[in-house]
Amino acid sequence: MPDGQGQVASKADLLLIHANELVTIAGKGRQPVTGNALADPVIIKDGAMAVKDGLISAVGSTDDILRQYAPGADTVVVNALGKTVIPGFVDPHTHAVYAGSREAELAKKLSGVSYLDILKQGGGILSTVKATRAASAQELYRQSRARIRRMIAHGTTTVEIKSGYGLNDVDEMKQLQVANRLAQMEPINVVNTFMAAHAWPEEFRDNHEGYVRLIISMIPEVAALGTVRYCDVFFEEGVFDVAQSRRILQAAKICGLTPKVHADEINDLGGAALAAEIGAVSAEHLLKAGDDGLRKMAAAGTVAVLLPGTAFSLMTGAYARARDMIAMGVPVALATDCNPGSSPTEAMPMVLNLAAFAMRMTPSEALIAATLNAAHAVGLADRVGSLEPGKQADFVVLDMPNHLHLFYHFGTNPVEKVFFKGAQVCHNVNIFGEESSC
Ligand code: NIG
Ligand code: FE
Repeated sequence: MPDGQGQVASKADLLLIHANELVTIAGKGRQPVTGNALADPVIIKDGAMAVKDGLISAVGSTDDILRQYAPGADTVVVNALGKTVIPGFVDPHTHAVYAGSREAELAKKLSGVSYLDILKQGGGILSTVKATRAASAQELYRQSRARIRRMIAHGTTTVEIKSGYGLNDVDEMKQLQVANRLAQMEPINVVNTFMAAHAWPEEFRDNHEGYVRLIISMIPEVAALGTVRYCDVFFEEGVFDVAQSRRILQAAKICGLTPKVHADEINDLGGAALAAEIGAVSAEHLLKAGDDGLRKMAAAGTVAVLLPGTAFSLMTGAYARARDMIAMGVPVALATDCNPGSSPTEAMPMVLNLAAFAMRMTPSEALIAATLNAAHAVGLADRVGSLEPGKQADFVVLDMPNHLHLFYHFGTNPVEKVFFKGAQVCHNVNIFGEESSC
């Protein structure tokens, strides 16, 4: 359509206009963001964005974008006046496919029983293994879908999901297939991780070598599914030791799965160093990681996936040393760790509040950690994690005038609307039917 100057205006399927703040996280390069670059989330005031075929075609001020794009009869126009727009959250560490819940463990934890002691007594992960094995694939899907939808309602548009509540061939496959079905049916990007090395199953309680061999024998079949990208190991006292972790992750690499490591969560066993050395994309948890391991991660570019919801729920008072990690040049990401034991939450906004209040991450650092750096931790940074031309139009309209409110105002859901590949997939309203959620 010709405009006043005789030029042809471009067409858009969707035009987002007048965002009080459009937080783009654009222009950060191909590597995970570290150091000073974490200080600037690249905000456009009175921002706008044009979307075509599910992808972002232009980002700029509302004046600029409306000069280039004229809304046609079929163009959806989203007026974000007074609101903040951010990239959809990328949640790079969850165990969201499981059956049942473990609320009774809270009383034990409150009376001082530790997480690893609950596991030793056959509770913890093993009680979720029982429930997950007993559930049909359909029931597992139904329960997991509810979690995924809660994630979307809290602004998550990309999620990593680990297996690890099957702990045998049939039930690990069942979990991976449910995760893959969620990827096909729900408006969210799903990245699958194989994590049979999550606990010792009852039937291998006295035969750890047998279980390690079983895991290694499952890897080719898992890789052949074509939907699984990563292999993770719970490297921890009483769970998988360094030699076992290394064998499993090496076998995974041979079959094309990239390692991830649950590292130094409860004890400093050198998990951070192992992750860096073995070429893991990320080391996750790291509550107890020492300087040596962190330096190796910085040198290797291994992403530190921090899970402050888990630290909050474990109640030991220890949080990952985010400030030190950032000072050392470690790329930092944030995730929920959504699971029925150590972090029963789907909410990335809660994780951002904890990142600020418990780990002293600045709003800019935490936003980048929960979007672009998280996308690096799941290998999708070329497609998601920032708002720039060519990327998927996954974004969130927050009912707040600027991004600082996301950190400062806690305990409510700030998300008003969620867009996935340019289509609105969620609209939160309160009981009065008003959009205002905070
Ligand atoms: O990441 N640390 C090991 N795995 C999960 C907890 C799983 C559970 O308790 O069910 C975690 O914290
Ligand atoms: Fe975890």
